[in-house]
Amino acid sequence: MALSAVRCSAVINASKALRMRCTANFVRRATVPAESLTEKVVDRVKLLGLRQIYPSFPQRFSPWLGRDCMFSTRPARYSTQSTEQDKPSPPKFNEVTRDDSARWYRMGVDNGYEGRYPYVWLRDNCRCSQCYHPSSWQRSSEVADLDPDVIPSSEELIDDGRVLRVIWPDGHRSEFSAEWLNRQRFSESEKDVLSSPELQTWAGELNGNIPTFKFEELMNEDEELYNWLNVLNTKGLAVVSGAPTETGVVQSLAERVAFVKTTTYGDTFQVFSKHEASNLAYTPKSLCLHIDLPYYKYTPGIQMLHCIEQADCAGGQNQFVDGLNVSLQVKKEFPDTYKFLRTHELDFRDAGVDYRTYHMKYRRPVIEHDKYGDFLCVNYNDHVRAPYMSLPVEKVTEMYKAIKIFNQVMYRPGNFVQHRLAAGEIATFNNGRVLHGRSGFTITKAGNRHLEGTYFDWDETYSRMRIIREKLFGDERL
Ligand code: OGA
Ligand code: ZN
Ligand code: ZN
Repeated sequence: MALSAVRCSAVINASKALRMRCTANFVRRATVPAESLTEKVVDRVKLLGLRQIYPSFPQRFSPWLGRDCMFSTRPARYSTQSTEQDKPSPPKFNEVTRDDSARWYRMGVDNGYEGRYPYVWLRDNCRCSQCYHPSSWQRSSEVADLDPDVIPSSEELIDDGRVLRVIWPDGHRSEFSAEWLNRQRFSESEKDVLSSPELQTWAGELNGNIPTFKFEELMNEDEELYNWLNVLNTKGLAVVSGAPTETGVVQSLAERVAFVKTTTYGDTFQVFSKHEASNLAYTPKSLCLHIDLPYYKYTPGIQMLHCIEQADCAGGQNQFVDGLNVSLQVKKEFPDTYKFLRTHELDFRDAGVDYRTYHMKYRRPVIEHDKYGDFLCVNYNDHVRAPYMSLPVEKVTEMYKAIKIFNQVMYRPGNFVQHRLAAGEIATFNNGRVLHGRSGFTITKAGNRHLEGTYFDWDETYSRMRIIREKLFGDERL
């Protein structure tokens, strides 16, 4: 299927995996009607996260400016099947103009982009073997040797505009490809598509509809692994089905992505009733909605709970709530409470003996945002809320009122999702966003509910996702 305007084609290859062959010269102002693609392809595009690469995919490309333009001149490498003919030619510079008072070059690219490249930045990012060490992807030059006011002696476009050559006052020579320079942007608003994803809120509509992935596929197919991680990143909750009912499974799955995060409860932890339990989870009691380990500064990013054996009586059911959705509701309906929860800290602590003898403590706001003001995480867990409160005593009652409101919104029947894990299912969720709980159960002689859990972190997960994107979608490193 060829779309003439942007020459974007999708193919289903023999092994049924569908890969997008975005072989486009996205450099045309083009409107691609969504109907031009089959529903299946559009769904798949969403799943693969291509909307995050091309936010307006497939309806519209507005490629002359900013980010769209950045991607517009990428060589097409979205499929190993792309042909020579499909590949757009790499960008070229039309012109280079010095602006010595601003100390930058203005460079016109043949795709319409005009970039400004500060002299000091160019000198700092010289790609020659003396300044840059390619196998480590690291700079070997140092800022100590850099003159922020450096002005080049001369410059020229060579190789038909595909390379900018700069000669510096000390005679050092740098060459930059137009292809590489064209992908460099100086913009505060440029956010990483993975660590600043478009978040999708959810509520009770996920009852019976939690996104589900097959264990075998996650273990064997990178594309499906990406799809699962993408759901965890944008929605925060997914179930994995069809896992063997034995211990060690969560560790194997975590290691497909990252490293398990060892905590005071070990590399993995066994959730069943224990004598002298080190955690309420290791009793048959109910657990109220919580995130795990809020008393860590580096709270684990992703949690998995694998049901090896479910209770053979009623109970032992899990609940999940979208902390982002709860925060937004609190913000809208209780703005003062929202502000309070963002600006006052709550103390959490955990102490006891498990994998180690430990005494953990940390304090943080219940609702946290990042430096852009975007939602970062929620931090709530009644069971490990510390008895001490690092607050002026006059604010203690206000804090209780605030967390009670947060809790009431969390427990609104429309907000939460219930799922009783069956043996072989793994609940997987963003531990900074999705609060989870469980109903109590009774231990019978015949059965002992047994879950195995583990954690891994977002840094390495994003790294894994980037590597998959480079492999499957042709993403290029800056
Ligand atoms: C936990 C936990 C839930 C369950 O171990 O942190 O929340 O279903 N367990 O037992
Ligand atoms: Zn150099
Ligand atoms: Zn928990």
